[in-house]
Amino acid sequence: MVEVLVTGGAGFIGSNFVRHALASRPDWRVTTLDKLTYAGRRENLHDVMDNPRHEFVHGDIADAGVSHPLVERSTFVVHFAAETHVDRSILAAGDFIRTDVEGTFVLLEAARRAGNLQRFVQISTDEVYGSVPTGASRETDELKPRNPYAASKAGADRLAYSYWATYGLPVIVTRASNNYGPYQFPEKVIPLFVTNAIDDIPVPLYGDGRNVRDWLHVDDHCRAIDLLIDKATDGEVYNIGGGNDVMNVDLTHRILKELGKPTSLIEPVADRPGHDRRYCLDTTKLRGLGWAPQVPFEDGLRQTVDWYRRNDWWWRPIKENDPAFKAYYKAQYDTRG
Ligand code: NAD
Ligand code: DAU
Repeated sequence: MVEVLVTGGAGFIGSNFVRHALASRPDWRVTTLDKLTYAGRRENLHDVMDNPRHEFVHGDIADAGVSHPLVERSTFVVHFAAETHVDRSILAAGDFIRTDVEGTFVLLEAARRAGNLQRFVQISTDEVYGSVPTGASRETDELKPRNPYAASKAGADRLAYSYWATYGLPVIVTRASNNYGPYQFPEKVIPLFVTNAIDDIPVPLYGDGRNVRDWLHVDDHCRAIDLLIDKATDGEVYNIGGGNDVMNVDLTHRILKELGKPTSLIEPVADRPGHDRRYCLDTTKLRGLGWAPQVPFEDGLRQTVDWYRRNDWWWRPIKENDPAFKAYYKAQYDTRG
């Protein structure tokens, strides 16, 4: 069996990747290492917790006592674990530095010492390029992160690269655009707006609503990582983008239309400080390896809206019963007007 360590496997993309890996790679034994922060939930892995090829370990990547032995026994590490929400990083950046930068350092050190790893996949983000007014970011472009989350990810991105350049560790870096799909924590725009609208709660649209994000279905992201584990070249960076550039206001209209809700639910609120206007990725390099997104945005959005509609067992406990989420929502939105 091939031992694969997935950090952050109880989060949104990680849990989709664990599910994908167990289904598509019968020779893999997958270990999920996750701290179970507010964003990590056992429920995200409910259908694979008893899978004999899956082990769940509750722990912090930055705790070498936990993470080193897991890295040592692994052939591949797919490193998703991170603090991931831009708005939270603006409220308080400390956890972002601790997990995204220092936590990544602990894993890289473990990999360097173990010396037997065949691939370390550093999951980075298109946010490291900063706002892109025109054109599309290429892997060789300068990094210009503009918020604490993006900066912490840029630090980790380059730290991982340095372990390839300096120590020859078989690192690759992936930079994906905005993901959407099932099990995304309802603080991010699509699940927040869908679940608010289901309950006729206003959807808080930042600024003029004309910021652009490139939407990537999480299944297409998982397929890209799977392919890169086999086909990537060590030390290289790969953009992963869905090619669906959509303005937030248009996205909001589509969500409301899908749910049959009125546009009067749209509540313009104060903008996110330092709000990046536009992201857009050039994915020529990845496409050259044989990947292309398979989920058309129209279909993916419809299926995603439908998933949240059918699975309120998953999100209602967070939005209705979790005092931490309520406190976050208040801190984030009460001051926005
Ligand atoms: P998420 O917030 O849903 O999940 C993050 C997971 O990491 C959670 O399960 C959390 O418990 C875990 N975690 C946090 N700190 C940890 C620690 N110290 N030790 C162990 N586990 C810890 O995030 P996501 O949206 O699934 O993003 C996953 C990765 O993909 C992140 O690295 C993120 O930067 C990157 N990414 C996300 C997107 C997106 O649109 N969501 C796009 C590009 C890249
Ligand atoms: O681009 C990749 C990044 O995408 C990932 O690296 C991050 O982990 C992920 O969180 C996501 O970051 P964004 O900031 O783009 O995602 P978010 O869902 O927070 O916001 C998407 C857009 O929607 C952004 O332009 C801000 C806007 N927005 C967001 C929220 C939460 C609103 O207008 N209102 C909101 O309430």
